[in-house]
Order: sequence, then structure tokens, then C-alpha cells
Amino acid sequence: MQHQGAHMTTEIIQGTNITKVYSTATGPLVALDDISFGINEGEFISLVGPSGCGKSTLLSILGGLEEKSLGKLSISGEQVTTPRPDVGMMFQTSVLFPWRTIRENIRLPGQILKLDKSDQVERTEALLNMVGLNGFGERYPDELSGGMKQRVGLARLLAHDPQVLMMDEPFGALDEFTRETMNLELLRIWEATKKTVIFVTHNIGEAVFLSDRVFVMTPRPGRLEGILEIDLPRPRTTDLMRDPRYSERVFEIRRMLGVDH
Ligand SMILES: Nc1ncnc2c1ncn2[C@@H]1O[C@H](COP(=O)(O)OP(=O)(O)O)[C@@H](O)[C@H]1O
Ligand SMILES: [Mg+2]
Repeated sequence: MQHQGAHMTTEIIQGTNITKVYSTATGPLVALDDISFGINEGEFISLVGPSGCGKSTLLSILGGLEEKSLGKLSISGEQVTTPRPDVGMMFQTSVLFPWRTIRENIRLPGQILKLDKSDQVERTEALLNMVGLNGFGERYPDELSGGMKQRVGLARLLAHDPQVLMMDEPFGALDEFTRETMNLELLRIWEATKKTVIFVTHNIGEAVFLSDRVFVMTPRPGRLEGILEIDLPRPRTTDLMRDPRYSERVFEIRRMLGVDH
């Protein structure tokens, strides 16, 4: 159990001995090997590791999109078997419907879940504001840059107000400046909404900058090499990247991954 301030935190997600074996043309492939962890409510967790180490596989299992081969997984005390309305997922590219306006794209999850219409109308306006897209509600996806599309994706992720946000390299396709801006916005939103975030990245610096704890994964078979606590002050600003404590954590993860020679 981890302590934050004077309050005991509660575990919202528990994974025990999670293993995933894919059957492939060349035989079984162990994508995840015996992974166990707990995630506290309101925590910001990053999964970091090289390409192919099983980050997306683990996130898909957490989101109920993929079945595990062995092990146990629960969210809020319930076994995960299918996608849950209290978990929202976001990917590297947000698939937006080109014939719907930005506002209509953000309203889609609420419509699918048949949430109260007037609440959703109000919420959509608040979300457009929150992600910095005021004035863009009536525009269409094709009129937006990649960074703005991911802002729409972020607003849509929040539309039905899920408690847990699972994000698979959500800003990975953006240029470095835009990615940095989006990371700061994500932190601001996370601090305001107290969501639990699980954020997949192969960028070690990004993982340290954002997270309370970093889950370090190594490939073949995908194992959880260790969990590093990032006990650096919040709210975080880009100044942190000049702090020697930041570099220490980055190098600790590099050491865990075996990338320093
Ligand atoms: N549907 C699948 N069928 C077979 N092998 C897969 C499938 N999805 C992923 N893999 C394999 O599992 C391993 C982990 O993949 P993935 O979770 O996508 O890694 P990451 O997201 O860390 O890059 C890789 O070796 C990949 O080729
Ligand atoms: Mg991946």
C-alpha cells in the first residue's frame, strides 16, 4: 500500500500473475509473462519499455479488449472480462467520424451509452473548453491538425466521465513540441479530475515527467522488470527536466532496461 499525504489510498486495479500467449504461425508467443501489480485510485501510472515488450497487450487486457491466457484481473473488485463503462481508452490516432462535427464526435460515447442529453450538451461545451478547442465545435475533423485531433480524442475520452483512463501512446504520433503541450494539458486535466491514468509510452523521459510510478517492462517474454516510484513534486512544469532528480530517475529506468553500456 502506498500513502499519499495523510490519506490511505485504495487499490482500484489488481493484476495477479497475468500471462498472455499468442498462437502464431511459428508457434506460441509469450507476450506477457506472470505480471502482478496493484494500481491505486487517482494514481498516474506509466508503462514503459521497448517496442514489442507487451505494453499494448497489457493495456488491451486491462481494458477488457483482449483475453488473458492466465492470471487474475479486477477493477473496483470485479473481474474484467469485457470493456467497462468506467474505463475509457485512447490510442495513438483517434478515429473520428469525418461526417460528424467535432462537437458531434465528442458527444458520440454519451449517445451510445444513452446518457442524459442535456447533461451531455453542457458537458461537451465544458470539454471543448477544457481541451482548448473553443470555437471549433462546428468544424469537421479534416479541418484539424494532428494535435487538434488528439485534443478531440481527449475530450471524447472524457465525455462519459470514466474513472480510469487507459492511453496507448496517445501523443506518440505528434511532433515533440505538440506532445509536450499535450502532456502538460493531460496533467492539468488529471489534477482537476482525479482520474486514475494508465499511460503507455516508449519515451522514458515522458514517463518520469508524468507519473507517480513507472512500470518498467522488458521484452521476450514481456516481463515487469520493476516499478519505480517518481517521488518528485507536483504540479510538474518543464523546469523539472533540468532537475538532477529527474535525470536520476530517467537513468535508473535506463539501467533497469539494460540500455546503458
Ligand atoms: N494479435 C497478436 N497475435 C500474435 N502476436 C501478437 C499479437 N499482438 C501482439 N503480438 C506480439 O506480442 C508482442 C507484444 O506486442 P505489443 O503488446 O504490441 O508490444 P508493444 O505495445 O510493447 O510494442 C510482440 O511480439 C507482438 O508481435
Ligand atoms: Mg504498442
